[in-house]
Amino acid sequence: MRVGLFDSGIGGLTVLKELIKKHPNHHYIYFGDTLNMPYGNKSKEELSFLANNIIEFLISKKVDLIIIACGTVSSNIGEELKRQYKLPIIDIVSPTIDYINKNNYTDVGLIATSMTIKSKVFSKRITEVREQECPSLVPIIENDEINTEICNQKINEYLLPLKKEKIRTLILGCTHYPLLTNKIEEYFNNDIELINMGTVLANSINLENETDYKLELYFSKINDQLITNVKNIIGEEKVNLKIIGK
Ligand code: DGL
Repeated sequence: MRVGLFDSGIGGLTVLKELIKKHPNHHYIYFGDTLNMPYGNKSKEELSFLANNIIEFLISKKVDLIIIACGTVSSNIGEELKRQYKLPIIDIVSPTIDYINKNNYTDVGLIATSMTIKSKVFSKRITEVREQECPSLVPIIENDEINTEICNQKINEYLLPLKKEKIRTLILGCTHYPLLTNKIEEYFNNDIELINMGTVLANSINLENETDYKLELYFSKINDQLITNVKNIIGEEKVNLKIIGK
């Protein structure tokens, strides 16, 4: 099956990685909109314009299915996009919301972009979720500043209120955040369960029509930092890394 995925940048690669692990025998086509990143504070109109262009691009690549590997797009315009197109579109947030509810998680926290929090998609569908927006984390991750003091400061600023409220489960509501897993676990003294939306999605779907594994990666802006980030996330030796500008 030809599976299309997209995000504002490298975040959706955390979803792609989980899909490849669980469903290796498929042809994956990924688009990261690095030119327009970050998406986390864009209006619904802007998100809709950008997402429509990307979906048209993926359709031109003859995908059978599209996964919105971006929490912000999924939360704000996911349902609208599903109605608009004939081909199946899966958003990244719904499987996690269903998983949390089905397993009766309590003391749940959510970290996400400002627009995801503003959409209220999690708080409407999960009873009692403590939400925290983290506007600076995506640029920090994209700029590879994870191991810097500024990153530590921001993590402390955003996570301290959640730590004080003794949350036991933390939904990583933006697909960039799994790249901070070690830092976040350390911050909570390894006493927390992190929910990676990519893992939940990969475990919740069936992909039919297996074929030879293939990966195509497209980005709207490419620089050395991006190439290093992609190699680090996907693992160069595992994939035939090919980055092509749109
Ligand atoms: N990774 C995206 C998300 O899940 C987009 C974040 C951004 O570009 O601000 O929300």
